[in-house]
Amino acid sequence: MTRAGWYPLAGAGDLAEGHIVDAVLDGRALAVWRGADRIARAWENRCPHRGVRLSIGSVVGDELVCRYHGWRFAGADGRCTRVPAHPNSAPPSGLRIQARPVREAAGIVWCDSGEGSEFVEPEPGIVARPLMFAMGLVALRGAMLGALGGSSAIGEAWLRASLPHEAGGWTVTLLLRPAGPHECWVHGLVHAGAPARPVAIARAQTDWLAGVRRLFENSL
Ligand code: FES
Repeated sequence: MTRAGWYPLAGAGDLAEGHIVDAVLDGRALAVWRGADRIARAWENRCPHRGVRLSIGSVVGDELVCRYHGWRFAGADGRCTRVPAHPNSAPPSGLRIQARPVREAAGIVWCDSGEGSEFVEPEPGIVARPLMFAMGLVALRGAMLGALGGSSAIGEAWLRASLPHEAGGWTVTLLLRPAGPHECWVHGLVHAGAPARPVAIARAQTDWLAGVRRLFENSL
């Protein structure tokens, strides 16, 4: 179990209204979604009926609908609002999905792995595409600090590093999210001033990070 704290789940721009994405935080499978009210939510990714992943369901207004038998759950509190097989009965009030604490900042959707952790907002930057590394958080953080010249730690799950000159030379904040004991996602915020080409900068960061991953994989 990782220390309680806020971890990145997805880029806020990747979670459009009506979309659901999968994410795993510390072994917990989550359905991350955004309804018509524009609020990002992270729910336990398991329907209480037959255990189907809610992330393969659909969003209707501010509700999430399970794909299997169509049970609907309210975004506001996770409560089941409708069971299609019993259209004339109100679902039991205790039937609800467990939600995790979520917030949006710096263009990223964050989740608290505990309850009531202090949130520290990173320096804003261009949000890059996250990549998965087949290493646990502590091992990956140590490997990055050893391999990336000039890198430095910011707390237990963030690092500051510089892209090589040929990839732009920008500074990047790497935000690590533990998914399991041997799996960690790395999100990035590129600090490139007021760039004219944010998409190209984000791509350069992703290409660089993919190269770092190959380096680590080849050394195993
Ligand atoms: S498994 Fe979700 S409604 Fe049946």
